[in-house]
Amino acid sequence: MKPVILAGGTGSRLWPKSRAALPKQFLALTSEQTMLQETIGRLKGTGAEEPILICNDAHRFLVAEQLRQQNVKHSGILLEPVGRNTAPAIALAALHAVQGGEDPTLLVLAADHLIKKLPAFHDAIKKAEELANAGYLVTFGIVPDQAHTGYGYIKSGQELENGFAVQEFVEKPDMATAEQYVASGNYFWNSGMFMFKASRYLEELEKYQPKILSVCKKAIDSESQDLDFIRVDADVFASCPDDSIDYAVMEKTQKAAMVPLDAGWSDVGSWTSLWETSDKDAHGNVVVGDAILENTRNSYINSEERLIAVIGLDDIVVVETKDAVMVAHKDKVQEIKNVVNTLKAEK
Ligand code: GDD
Ligand code: MG
Repeated sequence: MKPVILAGGTGSRLWPKSRAALPKQFLALTSEQTMLQETIGRLKGTGAEEPILICNDAHRFLVAEQLRQQNVKHSGILLEPVGRNTAPAIALAALHAVQGGEDPTLLVLAADHLIKKLPAFHDAIKKAEELANAGYLVTFGIVPDQAHTGYGYIKSGQELENGFAVQEFVEKPDMATAEQYVASGNYFWNSGMFMFKASRYLEELEKYQPKILSVCKKAIDSESQDLDFIRVDADVFASCPDDSIDYAVMEKTQKAAMVPLDAGWSDVGSWTSLWETSDKDAHGNVVVGDAILENTRNSYINSEERLIAVIGLDDIVVVETKDAVMVAHKDKVQEIKNVVNTLKAEK
């Protein structure tokens, strides 16, 4: 099994730590290691081959340096000249992987997730590998604990030997639909990790989003390698439709399966989800760096350079960096995206 690590996201909801030049996957948010390093370290003991990494050209040295720090051997860092979302990124990796007539089973991983229980994760990978080798496009399903519109939802169908057939896959439904799904008890969240034979993914892409496949084929035809970096044709790739694997393939394929995953998974999608997954003090606070808290409960405080003092406030997030301080109510952190958009517009 060959891991494909997707490291091309922007992580804007974790501003002001996560920046265009240093997105979330390259930060040490959940341990001493960066999220990318954690992602790769988590594969130890699974028999995984050397991973393929795929990221934006602008982040190539970050990726190379973070791999070097951990002595990670890999089979190439694919560089996207522009971001076109996950369907094309995975297509490039799959096309690269089948060169030379091979057809590896790919384990596609996001570079910015937290998984606390490794044995459960490794067990799910084993089951998924069986299903992937039998021709399924495998997802990993999480039992939802709330209605959330930022996830894909999977309705499990017929029981298979190592999981379930997927009856329905719905990417990012509206709130009313998400509430209905969660209440029904029949739906799982899509964790955003996948496993399939490289050829199976390419076949399904050809069926449902042929333009992405044809552009990616053309772009990788002229691939060139310097050092560890694999470059594709920038002009050709720029013409690729922007789409995620979830919309492009998973919502449409008839060959999806799901392995339930109960491994303390979180996609660390916001400061609040980081608060939720972190160890808290007796008042429910998570403090990173230097802070004095008086009469403050259930809050997330992260200081990089300066002392933060909070008095008499509950349920807040304060994140301080060299050039920005962000203060938000814990229920409103999704709106950080708006701040980032305002900043972009002002540039
Ligand atoms: N190389 C590359 N290029 N990687 C990318 C790109 C790209 O253009 N766009 C996103 N990624 C990476 C991100 O860094 C992340 O690791 C992963 O691909 C998923 O992208 P997100 O943008 O974070 O997707 P999402 O969170 O909105 O939704 C996905 O994940 C959810 C779970 O966290 C979907 O798969 C949902 O169905 C799922 O529930
Ligand atoms: Mg995500």
